[in-house]
Amino acid sequence: MNTVEIKPDIFWVGAIDWAVRDFHGYVTPDGTTYNNYLILDKQVTLVDTVKSDFSGHTLKNIRNITDPSKIVNLVINHIEPDHASSIDSIMSLVPNATIYITSKGKKGLDRHFDTSQWNFKIVKTGDTLNTGKYNLLFLETPMLHWPDSMMTYVKEARLLISQDAFGQHIATSARFDDEFIECSSRSELDDSVVDYYANILMPFGQLIKSKIAEVQALGLEIDMIAPDHGIIWRKEAGSIIQRYVDLASGKANLSVSIIYDTMWHSTERMTIPIMQGIKDEGIECKVIKLRATPMSIAIKEFWKSRGCLIGSPTLNNILFPSIAEFLTHLRGLRPKNRIMGAFGSYGWGGGAVKDAYEEFKRMKLEVVEPGMQVLYKPSSDDESNCYEFARSFAKKVKEYHHNFN
Ligand code: FEO
Repeated sequence: MNTVEIKPDIFWVGAIDWAVRDFHGYVTPDGTTYNNYLILDKQVTLVDTVKSDFSGHTLKNIRNITDPSKIVNLVINHIEPDHASSIDSIMSLVPNATIYITSKGKKGLDRHFDTSQWNFKIVKTGDTLNTGKYNLLFLETPMLHWPDSMMTYVKEARLLISQDAFGQHIATSARFDDEFIECSSRSELDDSVVDYYANILMPFGQLIKSKIAEVQALGLEIDMIAPDHGIIWRKEAGSIIQRYVDLASGKANLSVSIIYDTMWHSTERMTIPIMQGIKDEGIECKVIKLRATPMSIAIKEFWKSRGCLIGSPTLNNILFPSIAEFLTHLRGLRPKNRIMGAFGSYGWGGGAVKDAYEEFKRMKLEVVEPGMQVLYKPSSDDESNCYEFARSFAKKVKEYHHNFN
């Protein structure tokens, strides 16, 4: 039996996707889970569905608990296909069920399915649903991370079903935080939290802080947070909320990520004295060759560190393509509270370092200028200059970090 009772008569009935490695471009080396929850009450209620490839899994799990035709209510917290693409499979079994959803969610579903025969109840923050012994409270969370998004709070269970928020892409037999930490480690779990936050939620930091404040002002007692991906927070629900406040506030390590690419190893050679200069200022750094690293991992490493140095050779007077792609992607994530610099080699006209600074300024990030450029191949004098450039950058990172904190 592949179901787990997470609270009295509330069951995880989701699916574990051990195999997915590319989640719409986001690399998921550890797979993921699609979590949904069955409330076995007077009115049997299913909260969220799963990716359509796994509709058979969730139906099998539901059948282990009850006849799926007994489902009366279907709560849809979020319409992205990884959570909502099994709705038609469910609705074909319970055509008279009522779907509880936000107005934006309904509009989205209308574009994905023939919804003309389905019953809807449009909900907004503060609306409730009594299923018998449980009362569900709906909380809209627009743009966290889609316009339709909401969360469902089960009052008597002190349970927040939080859809994508507080999730992680991990496929594991552990369903709860303490189980995962026991078999892996706290740092591995935190790394997954940061990875997920950086790649999905980074643009919404301000919204996250205000939504958490709003939920706290409602005085909801929460002792379990059940997201739609990864493990369920039963021991550390308070800690993960605080972790999100920190992430949304731009908290970072006093460290530097060096994210570079190279054509004929000249820019690559520059990373060695640069790394040493940063290290000699007492700051750890991580060097990431972009062409050898999935974009989502580079984004995570960027977000973990207070400072970032971008290394790019000049190709045809502009940035190297992989670096241009990275910076464009990063701009979409609207990073804040990071300090940037750039370096790179060039053959004749240059242009990459200038372009990198233009991108940093478009993102309104703090910059340390000028960058460091080397003609063709670094000489030993160039390497000394790279080292001094890095020390000077590291000093600014420390200053910025201490002012920021
Ligand atoms: Fe996990 Fe926004 O879907």
